[in-house]
Amino acid sequence: MKTVKLNNGLEMPILGLGVYQIPDPHECERVVADALSIGYRLIDTASAYRNEEAVGKAIAKSGIARDELFITTKLFLNNATYEKTKQSFADSLKKLQLEYLDLYLIHQPYGDVYGAWRAMQELYRDGKIKAIGVSNFGTDRVMDFIEFFEIPPAVDQVETHPFHQQIETLKFLKENGVQLESWGPLAEGKHGIFTNGVLMKIGNKYQKSVAQVILRWLIQRDIVVIPKSTRKDRLAENYDVFDFELTEDDLNLIAELDTKTSIWGDHRDPEKVKMLYGYAKKM
Ligand SMILES: NC(=O)c1ccc[n+]([C@@H]2O[C@H](COP(=O)([O-])OP(=O)(O)OC[C@H]3O[C@@H](n4cnc5c(N)ncnc54)[C@H](OP(=O)(O)O)[C@@H]3O)[C@@H](O)[C@H]2O)c1
Repeated sequence: MKTVKLNNGLEMPILGLGVYQIPDPHECERVVADALSIGYRLIDTASAYRNEEAVGKAIAKSGIARDELFITTKLFLNNATYEKTKQSFADSLKKLQLEYLDLYLIHQPYGDVYGAWRAMQELYRDGKIKAIGVSNFGTDRVMDFIEFFEIPPAVDQVETHPFHQQIETLKFLKENGVQLESWGPLAEGKHGIFTNGVLMKIGNKYQKSVAQVILRWLIQRDIVVIPKSTRKDRLAENYDVFDFELTEDDLNLIAELDTKTSIWGDHRDPEKVKMLYGYAKKM
């Protein structure tokens, strides 16, 4: 598996599995087991996905050496304080049945993210986390962390796909040594992405599916991808993206699909902030 080198020297697989919206524990465990059997080694979960236990079970049963795996989870906003971060991290680790985490992310730029980051820096220094990062942070928030803290974020996980290409964000993050990791690489299947004419035409040239074209396009931009699928055939398909190369012409055609619009909404929108706090209260 091709890897990227994070700003602290840690190697991270460029492709992995995301397990958002697989709440059923049996299904989640089966999906992770299928992915690991195909060759996936990066798994992206979050405390808010409520499936860390299932991920942990699949990992434990796989028998794969710990140092071959790259496991990410995320701190939800209801736990974004210094003290709660330590507790939430310990809970996640226990559910995942792990001694350490490869990557721990602040899920959203809300709450006491400064207290949270101080706790994460300590856990990192104690060797409990190999790399620490953020998610859904705008470039201003990332620069604040870079300037304010001793340890800069290694990763910013943000929505990135053909309809929301994050050209400026990618440029900024690259210039500042922060790895962009795409969430929703397949735009969650929205806006007819799998039947998009441009992507289908490019796929036909290489005998590849639209999903494979998109993942290849992201990887060629040095972006880490974590597509989610519950189907084993699609897990295999999404993994099979290293035997072809998109040309400059292909890249130019895909560039025209950018609408710079999120499928979820703006993390700076107060209604979205309120909605996420409401979700946290029900947890
Ligand atoms: N940090 C954040 O705030 C945040 C937000 C969202 C997601 N994420 C992370 O990013 C990961 C990926 O994003 P996502 O799950 O939202 O969406 P996604 O990976 O863009 O899309 C998943 C959808 O595409 C379908 N799909 C997958 N492979 C396919 C293929 N080869 N052909 C056709 N359809 C295919 C899946 O259906 P089937 O399952 O039926 O195959 C599912 O409906 C998540 O799982 C999560 O780990 C993070």
